[in-house]
Amino acid sequence: MALSSESRHGMWSSRWLFVLAAAGSAVGLGNIWKFPYIAGENGGGAFVLVYLGCVALVGLPIMLAEVVIGREGRRSPINTMRVLTQQHHRHPAWVIVGWLGVAAGFLILSYYAVIAGWALFYILRMASGAMTGVTANVANQAFNDFLASPGQMLLWHTLFMMFTVYIIGRGVIKGLETAIRWFMPLLFVLLIVLVGYGVNSSGFERGLEFMFRLKWESVTGETLLIAMGQAFFTLSLGMGAIMAYGAYVPSTASITQSVIVIAVLDTLVAVAAGLAIFPIVFANGLEPAQGPGLMFVTIPFAFGQLPMGAIFGTIFFLLVSFAAITSAISISEPVLAYLVEQYNAKRKRVAISVGVLAWILGVGTVFSFNVWADVHIVGQLTFFDFVDYVSQNIMLPIGGLLIALFAAYGLPKTVIAAQLNARGKAWWIGWRIVVGCIAPLAVLAVFVATVVEFDTLMAWLNLQ
Ligand code: TRP
Repeated sequence: MALSSESRHGMWSSRWLFVLAAAGSAVGLGNIWKFPYIAGENGGGAFVLVYLGCVALVGLPIMLAEVVIGREGRRSPINTMRVLTQQHHRHPAWVIVGWLGVAAGFLILSYYAVIAGWALFYILRMASGAMTGVTANVANQAFNDFLASPGQMLLWHTLFMMFTVYIIGRGVIKGLETAIRWFMPLLFVLLIVLVGYGVNSSGFERGLEFMFRLKWESVTGETLLIAMGQAFFTLSLGMGAIMAYGAYVPSTASITQSVIVIAVLDTLVAVAAGLAIFPIVFANGLEPAQGPGLMFVTIPFAFGQLPMGAIFGTIFFLLVSFAAITSAISISEPVLAYLVEQYNAKRKRVAISVGVLAWILGVGTVFSFNVWADVHIVGQLTFFDFVDYVSQNIMLPIGGLLIALFAAYGLPKTVIAAQLNARGKAWWIGWRIVVGCIAPLAVLAVFVATVVEFDTLMAWLNLQ
């Protein structure tokens, strides 16, 4: 199999479209819904700073590695790994990277569609004016009532999955290029409006302190693992999504700058979401650690207090749903592209099969909030918690670790240097060290720290 300069699935028409598409993949529920609630559950400051460190030190270099590998192979992650290992005479077991990504993709897509369904439902709820002027408690109760109804949740879950299947069936490039150009800027503007509301609320200082005051004593091995998992999740790393998008990047485009822009945009959106949500939490006596419902209570409440809040609130949830769709598309792309390549299948058919499978798994997540709320898979984890934990905190970091190692030791240096146009550039050696050594060690250290509890280790060190 010869390597090609074009992918059979199409190509981004410019570097900017790749940046927008990858940013569309990165910016999603992970930034607006997940980041604030995980930060809330893990004590705020310590978590946020560790997370930012993970984005810069582990996330960025691995993202670069994914794009490079994808563009070199120009196929779905599974076939890209297959072709590259054959071409460079490496062990075929590296293909595991692709399969692990497909498995993680199914797990993530299954619950992603459920939560995105909540956002769809809130478009309607905000538009109806039902949240106008309500108290924080009423907003909280309204959300709990929604969670208690599996029928409602299934309906919105199904709708979201149908939208996603429709777009991925038409092709990523066609489906994305038009939509993304205007939605990202709009999302930014609305987030700024919300941050403005937060800044003027009486809870702003406490919100800031909660997010950014480093409390080392509350950092455990678990915090590190969750922060790292979140960094992978929010940047869409570790499962081949960015690798798949990398396969469609024109050969002439420079990728280093693109990757930095993507990571910066993604981080800004997450921090803005936190700055919008925590002041509202503290000004209204809500609970920062209330879990997955955090955004669905604080944001409707805040818009409910604003003039024309019903309109802005509707637009906000529309944008969140949009952000979720552009992410769901990228989660499905690795497996979709693989099935199309392998069986010469029609994209539409493949899209429907993938959607149906992920939908079925997703029913478990729907039930985790009502009928199966008391069913625990491991410890206190519901089905949703479990699927989320395993995919985000275990599968993505392992996938990312392998991708980094492959970029550093699997591919010849010259191939990578050519891809990155890196000859003679100062950052090249730095990147090699980070990808071949620092990032893999960081991932490993975090796993070890979770197993050997961090506090025990610290206590032991203090004794010495
Ligand atoms: N990054 C997206 C978010 O923050 C979710 C996402 C898209 C994703 N593609 C992915 C997560 C691939 C993990 C892997 O919402």
